[in-house]
Amino acid sequence: MTRTIAIQQRKGGATKSTTAAEVTLALARAGKRVLAIDLDEARALSVRMGFGAYDVPEMTSLDLLDGAEATACTVESPAIPGVDVIQGDPAWMRCQTWP
Ligand SMILES: Nc1ncnc2c1ncn2[C@@H]1O[C@H](COP(=O)(O)OP(=O)(O)OP(=O)(O)O)[C@@H](O)[C@H]1O
Ligand SMILES: [Mg+2]
Repeated sequence: MTRTIAIQQRKGGATKSTTAAEVTLALARAGKRVLAIDLDEARALSVRMGFGAYDVPEMTSLDLLDGAEATACTVESPAIPGVDVIQGDPAWMRCQTWP
């Protein structure tokens, strides 16, 4: 059976990303297959899953929301065995014009 757990809260800094990462880790340690989907462009959950804060992934949760196949957006966590990740989209970085 597949179960979806959404961690959401309007308040900033309410520990959403931390909770998502800890729940992911706990489920993986319990032997569950976990797909962690980071919907935040700040990428905190992606970082906790082992990716770089300034990585610009080819496919992200933004592509998922745009209708891409989940499998095309999914990569394995380099940090936690058994966890797949759809990373947060660093949209803010794509918009930067560096001096
Ligand atoms: N149990 C805890 N005790 C104390 N500090 C904590 C605890 N859990 C998380 N924090 C700290 O609280 C801060 C905010 O946590 P987190 O980034 O998970 O919040 P968030 O809701 O995802 O924030 P944002 O709105 O910016 O996405 C972080 O600095 C984190 O290290
Ligand atoms: Mg967060």
